Amino acid sequence: MTVGTRATLWRNARLATLAGGEPWGLIEHGALLTEGDTIRWVGSNSALPAGLRADAEVDLDGLLVTPGLVDCHTHLVYGGQRAREFELRLQGASYEEIARAGGGIRSTVAATRAAGDELLFTQARERARTLMHEGVTTMEIKSGYGLSAEHEARCLRVARRLGRELPLAVRTTCLSAHALPPEFDGRADAYVDAVIAWLPQLHAEGLVDAVDAFCESIAFSPAQTRRVFAAARALGLPVKLHAEQLSDQGGAALAASFGALSCDHLEWLSQDGVRAMAAAGTVAVLLPGAFYFLRETRLPPVQALRDAGVPIALASDHNPGSSPGLSLLLMLNMACTLFRMTPEEALCGVTLHGARALGLADRGALAEGQRADFVAWDLDHPNELSYWFGRNPCRRRVVAGVEANA
Ligand code: NIG
Ligand code: FE
Repeated sequence: MTVGTRATLWRNARLATLAGGEPWGLIEHGALLTEGDTIRWVGSNSALPAGLRADAEVDLDGLLVTPGLVDCHTHLVYGGQRAREFELRLQGASYEEIARAGGGIRSTVAATRAAGDELLFTQARERARTLMHEGVTTMEIKSGYGLSAEHEARCLRVARRLGRELPLAVRTTCLSAHALPPEFDGRADAYVDAVIAWLPQLHAEGLVDAVDAFCESIAFSPAQTRRVFAAARALGLPVKLHAEQLSDQGGAALAASFGALSCDHLEWLSQDGVRAMAAAGTVAVLLPGAFYFLRETRLPPVQALRDAGVPIALASDHNPGSSPGLSLLLMLNMACTLFRMTPEEALCGVTLHGARALGLADRGALAEGQRADFVAWDLDHPNELSYWFGRNPCRRRVVAGVEANA
């Protein structure tokens, strides 16, 4: 054991490791040894190898321990809110109609541009903390409500600051191709040129871990999406896509051809899209919050994804327009009730597969060599994570080996 790095033995827990052959990777009476930010050993309380020594011991009191939750798709940084738009949709206006009339994403863009950096930060921090209190230890945050070089950079800086100031790992995604800002009305190709021109600056400032786009009739065409992706790949950045949310644009197959980390939403995904994602190893990120809140009826093709071996992740998609919720556990419940996923698939969706959707191989399971991110829950069995809703059973959160109750 490296001298100087503190080793901690976390004993007396039921572990859902999501590793190994058992369902859930369950270990009764389990223990974890962490050294610094890394898991060194996982097993039964009684089986700790004689050579491993701990500087400190923590009794987890029989709590259930899972990997830390990964929310792999959020739009956390924005100004304002869209409750009025919700009322209009309840009276019959559709999401597309509101967007075409200049509401929707554009109204959040106006509010975001008008908000100061500090307000954007404190509001996003509050949202992040709400998600963290339910066990989130890694979160993706997209830009996409700034839609200019200056305002996209501001939003991404806020996201990076959250990662520095909170006990939370943050991955940033540049979603400048989210909507057409008003100053580019009728000039979508010119806007795509502008995005391609500012992407290298954002990247050079260290603000971008991945690049996303919204490929949809109310947003960007497959040809425009392709241009954004080519620019991202030329910078060595991985891509992901809001694909097939409201119609089948062939976006998933396009994204897969660029080796996309993930395609997200996917209610209208075709069999060709499924095949392309399977061949490329692209993760399907399902977003039951948006499906529910937009009162969609077309289900994502869960069985076809399973049959093709496409890993399925789940995320909150937190944003003010289509998914204003801040509970990842509620997404597990909804994935089971609305999408017919199993509780075990749902947990893998916010751990192993959520991590993979961000290109992170170092987290998502409790196993030797993984980052020491885990959560202790006041539950007997991991299937309860999908069962309760409106109850927060999270008791302890450990991020990179350090207990963090922010
Ligand atoms: O993931 N689909 C596009 N983007 C967001 C919604 C954005 C908004 O309505 O503000 C989503 O659902
Ligand atoms: Fe989204």
